[in-house]
Amino acid sequence: MIKLACVNQKGGTGKTTTVLHLSYILGRKGLKVLAIDLDPQAHLTSAFGIDPDTVEVGMDDVLESYTQKGERTKVTDITVPITVGGAEIMLAPSNAYLERLNITLLNALARESVLSSVLEDVDSFDVVLIDCQPTLSILTLNALVAANYILIPVETKGLSVQGLLMLFDTIEQVKEKLNRNLQILGILPVRYQKRLKSAQKNLERLSSFSDVVRVYPPVPESAAFEEMIEDKKTLYDVESTTAKRALKIYEQVASDIVKLVR
Ligand SMILES: Nc1ncnc2c1ncn2[C@@H]1O[C@H](COP(=O)(O)OP(=O)(O)OP(=O)(O)O)[C@@H](O)[C@H]1O
Ligand SMILES: [Mg+2]
Repeated sequence: MIKLACVNQKGGTGKTTTVLHLSYILGRKGLKVLAIDLDPQAHLTSAFGIDPDTVEVGMDDVLESYTQKGERTKVTDITVPITVGGAEIMLAPSNAYLERLNITLLNALARESVLSSVLEDVDSFDVVLIDCQPTLSILTLNALVAANYILIPVETKGLSVQGLLMLFDTIEQVKEKLNRNLQILGILPVRYQKRLKSAQKNLERLSSFSDVVRVYPPVPESAAFEEMIEDKKTLYDVESTTAKRALKIYEQVASDIVKLVR
């Protein structure tokens, strides 16, 4: 089972979008996919058409119950089936209460590995995709400890090389101290506008990382992404050239994941 966390402590870099589209692309390839919303903003939950305010048991209950005595709420107790893009995947939803876990977990035993432990019960999936919040919080650390692969979506417009170096440093520390099995699948540049000089420059700066980590071709900026959310469509339903190119890149990432599973 591949556990892939989409991580970047910077906000709005395409983490949720990447998890959303990868989940049905992988589902269509015949893989059993579990998507975990590990962000209290719960954007992944809403992207799948569920209002986070209506989520009565979510990832907060799973993590919280693990830190307490008594009966545990399992991941499989809270998952909901989602039909999307011609695939059926499972979602472990969240709501705003998940933020409390960043405090609750502070006093928990083995606080960085609670998610890893709760995922030990989960074995009926080929791929677990974890959408993280935009901070290096305890929740995000839990994702880094539970995962065996990390995908780092970065925005080509407002790239922060410093932020990326800090993330690499954190990943190295996690590898050294908490999770030897952690590997970086790659950096995925998103929202690329090829006519923007600053974006071209940032893509060049990113390519300097390619000695140490895979840098995927950029997912283009496409108005289709906003439309898809509004109209509940997927990359397979939209016709624009930029959306088709975006699909190609996401399919490339998905093929790499499939190779790791099989
Ligand atoms: N290739 C793209 N073209 C156009 N818009 C995009 C593209 N990818 C993502 N977006 C849009 O960019 C915004 C931010 O994306 P997203 O929510 O996936 O980022 P995030 O990293 O999950 O944010 P946060 O850090 O708040 O969790 C969203 O409105 C999304 O629809
Ligand atoms: Mg997000």
